[in-house]
Amino acid sequence: MEHPSELPADQRVECAPGLTVARRSFFATAATAFAAASLPGASSSWRSRQNAADWTIEQFVREVTPVAKELVADTSARGQDRYLLTLAAFAVRLGTLAAPESRDVGTGHRIGSHHGPDPFTVLHWQLEANAIITPHAHTYGNVVTLGVRGSALVCNYEVVGPRDYETTAPIEVVRVQEQVLRPGDTNLVSLERHYIHGFTAGAEGAEGLDITTRLQAKRKTPGLELGPGKDPTARTFEARWRIGG
Ligand SMILES: [Fe+2]
Repeated sequence: MEHPSELPADQRVECAPGLTVARRSFFATAATAFAAASLPGASSSWRSRQNAADWTIEQFVREVTPVAKELVADTSARGQDRYLLTLAAFAVRLGTLAAPESRDVGTGHRIGSHHGPDPFTVLHWQLEANAIITPHAHTYGNVVTLGVRGSALVCNYEVVGPRDYETTAPIEVVRVQEQVLRPGDTNLVSLERHYIHGFTAGAEGAEGLDITTRLQAKRKTPGLELGPGKDPTARTFEARWRIGG
């Protein structure tokens, strides 16, 4: 009997009584999947845009909003993963963006807003050379971060064991991701995965977008005081919450 992988695409054979197999073309299957998921691969107009110029923020919001509104309804861990990955797939079409009017929030850090709050906010952050955004937890909104200029080291952490953002007792965290964020790179923060992040700008500074979608009522952001490493192999650290950022 022929192995199914050796069959011509779409040919059906009966390989055992009552068992029929067919080898499908990946491209046909992928096209069907894109169409079923209402993702941008479904349309020929999407293909025609592949060589188009960088998107503006307005284009990005217009293109992504229909699918974002559909996917945001599933707030499970996997639902948030699907939402953030889809948002990121659209966000990488954004190119060089001029920073909007911004305000100084201290320690070499400025923030401005391109869009928001519906269905998400698009904040533009700017960090001077070697400036730091200390680690903090996202407790009510998930985030796609897109690098726009320069580079920054982004570290993501999660709590080991039960999460209690109110505790003043020592806690343990694990560094789950360490990434150099450059223009076009994305870093995802859901409420269940990679939900603590901190940034250190490189020598040339850094700029990026935080595309934040609020899923719960707003509350104070817990900052994380990172202590000494506990287990280098497990990438765990002692830590403590600093409520209020
Ligand atoms: Fe953040």
